[in-house]
Amino acid sequence: MRIVVLVSGTGSNLQAVIDAVQAGDLDIEIAAVGADRAGTYGVERSVAAGIETFVVDFKAYTDRSEWNAALTEAVAAYQPDVVVSSGFMRIVSPEFIDAFDGKYLNTHPALLPSFPGAHGVRDAMAYGVKVTGCTVHWADAGVDTGPIIAQEAVAIEDYDTEDTLHERIKVVERRLLVSTLASLAAKHAAARTI
Ligand code: GAR
Repeated sequence: MRIVVLVSGTGSNLQAVIDAVQAGDLDIEIAAVGADRAGTYGVERSVAAGIETFVVDFKAYTDRSEWNAALTEAVAAYQPDVVVSSGFMRIVSPEFIDAFDGKYLNTHPALLPSFPGAHGVRDAMAYGVKVTGCTVHWADAGVDTGPIIAQEAVAIEDYDTEDTLHERIKVVERRLLVSTLASLAAKHAAARTI
């Protein structure tokens, strides 16, 4: 199973996938890692791991649809079986979703459909919920919407800050992402042998 991973930031979830592949625990090929801006640590990690990278810089385009078209073309060039949004903080167009129909996977640091968007951890704390968590789901053209594959709860403690809670969520999120990719890879391999 070939995947392309899209990142906007530090890429610690991506690192968990790279580590699992390198340890022989996850039988997939990371064909490429793409980012929406230059200079992300996610891309730096990928270069260090010998993975191909590309940047489709959002700010270099005046027209959002042109950026979407360029992103779609860049990802499609790698013919991925699954595209993973791993902390990719851009809404993609319906055309992108159509191009990778049923193949676009997203992770989110909250129990969707609660607290979608760029500040899922902060919003859950501000609301005062006592339990939040993370979600792995097939993404559609909405903001963190689409069929849910896996979720796991994380308790919010009185002493939590946004950072401590996000880090605890990410520990679970990394495990859930890797196990989801493992089960998709197993299904992919089974489908190829039929
Ligand atoms: C992750 O917690 C991911 O769920 C979140 O960004 C973080 C990226 O961390 N994504 C969203 O909030 C999407 N709405 P990382 O760059 O260290 O992997």
